[in-house]
Amino acid sequence: MSQAAQKSLIYEGKAKRLYSTDDPNTVLIEYKDSFTAFNGEKRAEMSGKGRLNNLISSAIFDYLAKNGVPVHFIERVDEVRQLAARVKIFPLEVVVRNITTGSIVKRLGVAEGMKLPRSLMEFYYKDDALKDPLITEDHALLFGWAAEADLKTIKEITLRVNDLLKDFFESIDIMLVDFKLEFGRDNDGNLLLADEISPDTCRFWDVLTGDRLDKDRFRKNLGNVLDAYEEIWRRISRMGK
Ligand code: TMP
Ligand code: ASP
Repeated sequence: MSQAAQKSLIYEGKAKRLYSTDDPNTVLIEYKDSFTAFNGEKRAEMSGKGRLNNLISSAIFDYLAKNGVPVHFIERVDEVRQLAARVKIFPLEVVVRNITTGSIVKRLGVAEGMKLPRSLMEFYYKDDALKDPLITEDHALLFGWAAEADLKTIKEITLRVNDLLKDFFESIDIMLVDFKLEFGRDNDGNLLLADEISPDTCRFWDVLTGDRLDKDRFRKNLGNVLDAYEEIWRRISRMGK
């Protein structure tokens, strides 16, 4: 690790720890071996999970950065840590759905597994105590969670990320069913794609078998949870070889 010595713990979340470095513009993100679902109601520890999500998320952010997406990710430092720009996170979770499953099926009673004629974008207010409620853009504007120009940029980046990720995963026989993004602003005011992109934050279905290769295996007690994460990493690490 070059210029970034790990200093003190800034924040511990459900799946990651954030550390300051000797550079006020960067943080070290350490991926934990913890699984949580349903707002932390269901928990488990699985050795090796942090490593897999760090490897997968780093590879995806590398790919997005190479394709011009502004990202907080700088570099993977070791098996469980990455260096990223220090950002202030917008309290929004931006979800894109290409195929119906999960909360939209429960909330609206629509059929599961429907391929949507175009991608659906949803905003959730990031607040654990409120269980991340679904909101409209107007809520975000009126309550000051994001400005109009920020929302515009966030939507543009999100659509671009969806296109890039669909291609990326299609090339390794995985359907990108849905995913969640988070955004932040760095110390210079740049709006950047942040957080992680991994089987914790996306739904991946095997094109050929329909197998679930993501955190739904944990949420729904389907078994072989880490095998699925391992399989995603195996396919990504062999890309282009
Ligand atoms: P949902 O169907 O449960 O709303 O999830 C939509 C997508 O967002 C799915 O890919 C999982 C991801 N997600 C998160 O990353 N964090 C969360 O807290 C939730 C609820 C979903
Ligand atoms: N990320 C949330 C939790 O850890 C919910 C989920 O992903 O199902 O509780």
